[in-house]
Amino acid sequence: MTSNHVPAPRPAKQVVGYCDPWSVRGGDEVRLHSASHLPVQAHLDLVRLGSGHHRRFEEDVVPSDLPDLVDLDDRPYPAGSYATIDTRFDRLTGLGVHIWPTGPDGDLVAVGDAVVVRLVDGRPAVSIDGTVPAKAEVPIEPRRWYEVVMEVLPARLEVLVRPAPRAGEATQGTVDMAVDLDMAVDLQVDADLQVGMDVARPDSRHQGPGRTTGTWRLRFAGGGFDGKMARPWARGDGWVERWRMPDIALHQLPDPVVTGPAWDGTVLDPAEGPGHYDAVGFHHDDLYDAGWPVTATLRLGVDTPSGIYCFRLRSTLGDDRVPVFVAPGPGTQTADVAFLVPAATYLAYANHRMTISGSDFFPARARLRPEQQYLVDHPEVGLSQYEYHPDGTGVAFSSRLRPILNTRPGADGWGFTPDTDILAFLRRTLPAVDVLTDEILHREGAGALDPYRVLVTGSHPEYWSTAMLDGLEAWLAGGGRLVYLGGNGFYWRVAFSDRWPGAMEVRRAEDGTRAWTSSPGEAHHAFGGEYGGLWRRLGRPPNLLAGVGFAAQGFDRATSYRRAPASRDPRAAWIFDGVDGDVIGDFGVGGGAAGQEVDRFDTALGSPAHALVLASATDFSEQMLRTKEEFHATVIPARPDPLVRADIVFFETAAGGAVFSVGSIAWWGALVEASADGRDNQVARITANVVRRFADPAPFKMPG
Ligand SMILES: [Fe+2]
Repeated sequence: MTSNHVPAPRPAKQVVGYCDPWSVRGGDEVRLHSASHLPVQAHLDLVRLGSGHHRRFEEDVVPSDLPDLVDLDDRPYPAGSYATIDTRFDRLTGLGVHIWPTGPDGDLVAVGDAVVVRLVDGRPAVSIDGTVPAKAEVPIEPRRWYEVVMEVLPARLEVLVRPAPRAGEATQGTVDMAVDLDMAVDLQVDADLQVGMDVARPDSRHQGPGRTTGTWRLRFAGGGFDGKMARPWARGDGWVERWRMPDIALHQLPDPVVTGPAWDGTVLDPAEGPGHYDAVGFHHDDLYDAGWPVTATLRLGVDTPSGIYCFRLRSTLGDDRVPVFVAPGPGTQTADVAFLVPAATYLAYANHRMTISGSDFFPARARLRPEQQYLVDHPEVGLSQYEYHPDGTGVAFSSRLRPILNTRPGADGWGFTPDTDILAFLRRTLPAVDVLTDEILHREGAGALDPYRVLVTGSHPEYWSTAMLDGLEAWLAGGGRLVYLGGNGFYWRVAFSDRWPGAMEVRRAEDGTRAWTSSPGEAHHAFGGEYGGLWRRLGRPPNLLAGVGFAAQGFDRATSYRRAPASRDPRAAWIFDGVDGDVIGDFGVGGGAAGQEVDRFDTALGSPAHALVLASATDFSEQMLRTKEEFHATVIPARPDPLVRADIVFFETAAGGAVFSVGSIAWWGALVEASADGRDNQVARITANVVRRFADPAPFKMPG
């Protein structure tokens, strides 16, 4: 007898959340925002996370004031950036805006929700109360400036879409470039428009046919629009109001500094020619703030032990663990060592799909983890700064005010979970370790580091704001001791803004190993105006700080280091106490401690001349390619490429501090072998020797 009974498939993960803020100190408040695509009741806990790796997973429930049960409902992702302005005219007689569309659809300008000029399949159209009484017969061209003008006549709406003059274009001003796509909407009676406008303005007050008093809510972009807009204006009561698009209310973080209709390449810094940068770049998938209601508020005691905690939601429709990084409350710091969570790098990689499609030592997944499946099922949760908007523009902004599914325990391969392994290792090795984030360093400056003798990085601290770097440098100059346990660190400049808390911006200017390139003329950050790009190109290469800087990347396999004679120099021999042989790290994720992204010592790039190169890895595969900023022509470098190298470097600083750098993301994958099989792990031994000596107050002395 057969049965047709099959177990019900596990429902896909429905429960997700985010918290605000995610970098806090004891004594602070954190708000959890969470939702479930299907209504469900979830158990809520606070847990303190040990290793987040699924094979070594550790978490402890911590007493808190959180409710035990929370009801979760479906909440939308309000993706799509747009701009609004409220203007007061007794009677609106006309309005306009310049547009530079990159996609075929979306709203251009709307008066309330009732009257919308939009693009439909590239053709301008007018929609009134949801119906489309007029549509142009031909589409407009993408990626050129047009002027949209709407005239509100007593019983008629006229919309004109005409090409704006294009700098440097030979045909500028000729007849074929001046084809007007004009549409007239004959309204039955004046009152029709009146009705439409009333929908837009519930506060309006009728003063007779065609005449009202109140605030006109004008909206630009939205409704699926991709592209740029500039120079909005409105006319009424015999006068015209004009605005700079970047200065009006922007929603869901469009790019507030992009080249406008006047940009002709003569100005490259928006601060030097704001008139060239009067446009805003919109995308229908921009998402700054999911805006979900608060599920629960966590009030941390001032003396809450520092660590990585998670809001843990458990339900029949899946679980979620939303990390929150807790630094010591004011005056409660006791540890000498702090682990610096690279939260900026987590933001850059937020919701990156790379571990789904396969990379980073892992083949494409046959079975996705629930978090990964969620990213596949819900692209509207937004992109990482490694991805593109559908129009091909690189994603320059990322926000933590939305679920970030790869900053979750259990996600493998890159970033957060490896860093929890490093933190767990440090906790096993040292009497006390505090957690700080680079976001706190950005906020508080070097003062955040002052209580600490030793700072240990994560596996990939790639993204640094000027304030972060300034703080780290000042602390090092004062005798701090830096243990850099990663690769490709201190690489990109990023920026933050008080106007958009929780968001981060990166401009990928000029050069670098990168997912995309900033558009011409758009190399300066909107947040603060700094020129963007690689710190190397900004005169502050990682080598100056860490002794090593980005050299190469490759993801097929890793390799081991070989000890150099300098490792037996009395200045550094203690680092190898208990380490036998010359081969270091011939095991780990990917098969070695040197891999993924690797850094090399190079005095030409600022590595200190007195630094000791203790060990080097050179035996990489053909896939390990020199970093792109060191390709000067399309010639494949001879193999082995002398620039492709991972170096372990140690040096002392004048103030009695020191720096130890491993120059490899894969160091983490060998480090954690120690807890996996218990064998004597040289990578763990070296790391422990370094952090213990660095925690010892005895000063280091520079040679000579
Ligand atoms: Fe990276």
